Formats: sequence, structure tokens, C-alpha cells
Amino acid sequence: MNVLILGSGGREHAFAYKIRQSLLCKNLYVAPGNSGTSKIASNLEIQVNQFEQIAEAIKNLNISLVVVGPEVPLVNGLTDFIKGNKDLKDTIVIGPNKHAAQLEGSKDFAKDFLNRHNIPTASHKTFTAENINDAFFYIDEMKAPYVLKADGLAAGKGVLIIDNPDEAKNEIHEMLINSKFGDASKSVVVEEFLDGIELSCFVISDGQDYKLLPSAKDYKRIGEGDTGLNTGGMGAVSPPTFLTKEFTEKVEQQVIQPTIEGFKKDNINYQGFIFFGLIKVNDDPYVIEYNVRMGDPESEVVLPRIKSDLLELLYAAGNGNLKDHNIIIDDKKAATVFLVSGGYPEQYEKNKEIFGLDSVVDSLVFHAGAKCEDAKVKTNGGRVIAVTSMGNSVQEALEKSYNSIKKISFEKMYYRKDIGFDL
Ligand code: AMP
Ligand code: GLY
Repeated sequence: MNVLILGSGGREHAFAYKIRQSLLCKNLYVAPGNSGTSKIASNLEIQVNQFEQIAEAIKNLNISLVVVGPEVPLVNGLTDFIKGNKDLKDTIVIGPNKHAAQLEGSKDFAKDFLNRHNIPTASHKTFTAENINDAFFYIDEMKAPYVLKADGLAAGKGVLIIDNPDEAKNEIHEMLINSKFGDASKSVVVEEFLDGIELSCFVISDGQDYKLLPSAKDYKRIGEGDTGLNTGGMGAVSPPTFLTKEFTEKVEQQVIQPTIEGFKKDNINYQGFIFFGLIKVNDDPYVIEYNVRMGDPESEVVLPRIKSDLLELLYAAGNGNLKDHNIIIDDKKAATVFLVSGGYPEQYEKNKEIFGLDSVVDSLVFHAGAKCEDAKVKTNGGRVIAVTSMGNSVQEALEKSYNSIKKISFEKMYYRKDIGFDL
């Protein structure tokens, strides 16, 4: 079958790498893709928000299955758009419809869902400009630190964690009255702070059943020791070494199964990935967020650990056949380290030639903010290359990635040298 992957990051290169290996895959397209995907698939000059052009491509290129990488097109209703087109209604879209995508697109929707289905999460209240005074009273009732979340999508920047109550009130004012995050902060969720270790769990659902995928831990801060500004992700490992069999069972029983049952009760036909952002408090899992897609950089460690055919898995999810599907996970552990442009996540320069990519033999090199120009690979974004390795332990995988990185260079290249330091 012909397959289209939407997106341009390391996650999409990792999808392309796995799907390309499938005997089921005839032609593989990525829109818009990057220098990495162009080597194993055909890149299309279509952006992920160009719904008409995407529909045209599906029709003209005879695409049977679409994998939607990022959340924005899902939250904007791409799946409904494709399914609503009479010529395309049989196309499999891996990614939920607009209604279900609100699990990521609206924190308030997600909190309602969690509470309605008794899934453990931090206690919260949601406020708008109309009842901002109630938000101030709520802050007075709470203990520090205060967790403030813009309701809508804010490119990963909409969550503030603040120690001082006056500062928290001031930020609530900025969000609700001065539109700090634009429309995304028209509503603000104020929630209890949970103290624990974060991890990312993933499943794929066909609407009725689910398959558990490997879990991961990502490293979001720019600086070593988890310091400095937040980024899109500086590295990840899979599995998180603290993840025991008992804890995984708790996650399935207390979080994953009630979520899938919740979909059925709420008449949500969910076909796609669910990314559970969890915090382990003592020995119990709490949901801090749902994402309706795979994570990045988590995909760069999770997908390589799926030994069985990824396209067969996606096809089964699209056809409601997950129950009979067998997924095989590699016992090997995985780690990825991101090479980023100097200055990121603040100002940085692009168009730097990247050297040494072809001399890497022990690791997988996933391109992200990288492009092909004049037969050279050049930087084209903040997060440029993810170097993934497999090993008998997370430590071994990390050592391989750090050794491979020695062969790669570009002007002002930066990476964290301590991924996995806390494990
Ligand atoms: P989110 O966008 O909801 O994932 O939040 C971004 C980050 O804020 C998370 O990765 C956590 O590190 C942190 N966070 C969110 N909610 C909470 C909470 N209730 N308690 C502690 N930390 C939180
Ligand atoms: N790594 C977090 C995310 O993909 O949202």
C-alpha cells in the first residue's frame, strides 16, 4: 500500500524508517519531510495545515494510510476532513477526530474526561476572565507551588509553575486579561502540584482495544542537570529504568484501561496513538496530560524498539483488528541524544552544513531540523539531529550515541552530555 506521513521532525523520520522496512509498504511519502526522509521516501511540498492539498495528494497518489505526526492538524480536524470526503472515506488515518483531539487541544476537556472516568490526576479548577476573582481565591486556598495551564495549544509553552502566590495571581491576570498565550489562555486550568518522576507511556488504539508500546522518559531542559529553558526535547531513553512490572500494571489498570473504556462510554471512536504524560507519585501514576500523537523525541527511542512490522500494526489499528494483532517489543534498550543549533531554544542561526552523518555506523541518525541543499545536508531548525542507539542497557545505548556524536559536527552544535544522568 502507499503511505503518507505528515510532519517534518525526528519523529516523522523515525516513522518513515520503520514503515519503509515493511513488506506491506509500496510507495512512501512524507509531507513536508526533511533531509532524512528524502533519502528513504518521497517528500511532498505540502504543509501539515494544508488540508485541501493533503486530500488531493491522498487521491492522486492512491494513499491507503496516513500517519499524522503532530497535534495541530488533528486538533484542527484533519481526520474529519479526510473522512468527510466521499472519495477518501476508506483512507485509514492514524490520528483521532477533532472531538477526541481535544484531549490534547483543551486542558479543561482533558480534566473533565479524567474526572468523569475516575482516572487519577491533580485536583483542579478552570477559570475565565469572567470569574478571575475566583481564581485568586483558589490560589489563596492552595499550597505552593501553583501550576497554571493555558487551556489551549501553546506550542508546549502554556504551563507555568510558580512558587509565589502574588506572582501566580499576576500570571493568571496576564493569561486571562492580557492574552499572554493568545486564544489559548482564554481559559486557565489551575491545578495541584504533583511531586514525583515523570514518564511518557504510549498505546495505539483501534477504538475498542489497545496495544501497549514501550515507555520512555524525555529530557526537556536545555541545560545539564535539567536546568535552564524548556525545549522540544534534548534526548530520551526507553524504557525508563524505574519502570517496574508492577508499576506498568498499575498504569494499565488505573489509567490506560479506564481511558479506553471512557472512549466507549463517551462514543469516541479513537484510532491512533495516545501519549499519557504521567507523574509517578510514590508508587502511583497520575495523568498530567494526554497527547493525541506520538512524542518527539520519544518516538526516536520507542519506534526502533518495536520489532514487529509497524505498518501491519497501524493497518490493524485502522481496521479495528488490534485484538488479534501480536506486537513484539525488542528487549534491547534505546537512547537518543539531540544535536541542536547553538542558542536554541532562543535565537539561533540556520543553514550550517552538517558533516560526518554518513560515517555513523553504530547508531541511527534521525534528521529533524535539517534539509538538503546543493547536495549538502544543512541545519534548518533548533533541534537538528537525533542520534539513537540500542544496547543491553540504557547506559550502553547512551555510550554508543555519545561515541557516534563524535563523528558529527556543524558550526555551534550543542548537545547535553548527561542524558540519562538521573537513572
Ligand atoms: P503539560 O504541558 O501539561 O505536560 O505540562 C508541562 C510540564 O509541566 C510537565 O511536563 C510537567 O513537568 C509539569 N507539570 C504539569 N502539570 C503538573 C503538575 N500538576 N504537577 C507538577 N508538574 C506539572
Ligand atoms: N516530548 C514531549 C512531546 O512530544 O510533547
